[in-house]
Amino acid sequence: MEGLDKEIENAEKQALNVEIKLGITVNIASMILKLGIGTTALVGGLLFAGGEITILTFFLFLMLVSRFYDPMEITLRNFAAIIMTGIQCERLNEILDHEVQQGEQKLTNKGFDIVFDHVSFSYDDDTEVLKDVSFTAKQGEVTALIGPSGGGKTTVSKLAARFWDAKGGTIRLGGMDVSAIDPETLCSLFSFVFQDVTLFNNTVRENILIGKKGATDEEIKRAAKMARCDEFISRLPNGYDTMIGENGSELSGGERQRISIARALLKDAPVILLDEATASLDVENETAIQQALSELIKNKTVLIIAHRMRTIADADHVVVLKDGVTAEEGSPAELIRKNGIFKHMTEQQLISQNWKM
Ligand SMILES: Nc1ncnc2c1ncn2[C@@H]1O[C@H](COP(=O)(O)OP(=O)(O)OP(=O)(O)O)[C@@H](O)[C@H]1O
Ligand SMILES: [Mg+2]
Repeated sequence: MEGLDKEIENAEKQALNVEIKLGITVNIASMILKLGIGTTALVGGLLFAGGEITILTFFLFLMLVSRFYDPMEITLRNFAAIIMTGIQCERLNEILDHEVQQGEQKLTNKGFDIVFDHVSFSYDDDTEVLKDVSFTAKQGEVTALIGPSGGGKTTVSKLAARFWDAKGGTIRLGGMDVSAIDPETLCSLFSFVFQDVTLFNNTVRENILIGKKGATDEEIKRAAKMARCDEFISRLPNGYDTMIGENGSELSGGERQRISIARALLKDAPVILLDEATASLDVENETAIQQALSELIKNKTVLIIAHRMRTIADADHVVVLKDGVTAEEGSPAELIRKNGIFKHMTEQQLISQNWKM
């Protein structure tokens, strides 16, 4: 899905470039045509003044040129539209050519432990993003994925929900190979809060409702309250019925993130993926939402990704990903004793917290 997203984004950029170039060409051509009318009027006027042509010939030419102009401009614009349609068809075909993931709709999983068993993955065939990732995220526990930026944390969380299939190794959910489960059935078991929040150009209510179609107004408001949305929603001109713009463009980053948390709280699925879920929030809101999340995650499988170490301080299990491999694993206390990457990251954050101008 994500790979496809990138391809669509690239295709859109290419199409936009062609559209801009075509637009400029058509406008220049149209200007040249208009100049043609002006030139005919000027030259004709001079010839008439010099007595070389009659007024009748002068008007005849002016009429002919203006008659030519409209059809020629229309032909030019139609020609540009035909080229654009061809490009749009190519883009549609690229999407249609993508292999559709298939799988079982009947679930035979026992519980919701997530197991990564020697998993490797690459977005393109050149660079391996994950080389040999093995860990277990147990049901009823909070598993934190940490590590340097670009280490593959988001990729791991999305692979668990089968956004793509692993290139090597297996990923199991409650003992079932996720690559054998129908993607939509699998997704119904996950509540996500992603790093890149996706909202729709619709009302606040509809954006939260995506978490659970058919939820009552009361359920929506409860989730919004737990995610600390009620305070800013009450300030919006039409409350829950306010349109929030394309991808929530009329909201702040923290407000958009809180709507996506409300959506996840409403869905209340057995597996919860939180990717930098509270990164855009101030400390007060983060603390309140963490309390709400701690209610939500009871007896669930929770995979949490965070750069701020205090966000994952209470995790049961920590997996450190570095350069596509599982570099360290254990409880926070065990990893502090180990004197490795986890300890180094914790110390670095303490230094930056105490840093003063
Ligand atoms: N859709 C994609 N297509 C191609 N490459 C991608 C895609 N998403 C991520 N990558 C690449 O895969 C690698 C791992 O990315 P990922 O987003 O999993 O890292 P991360 O650990 O979550 O980083 P961060 O902490 O910055 O969020 C990076 O090198 C990134 O450039
Ligand atoms: Mg990430």
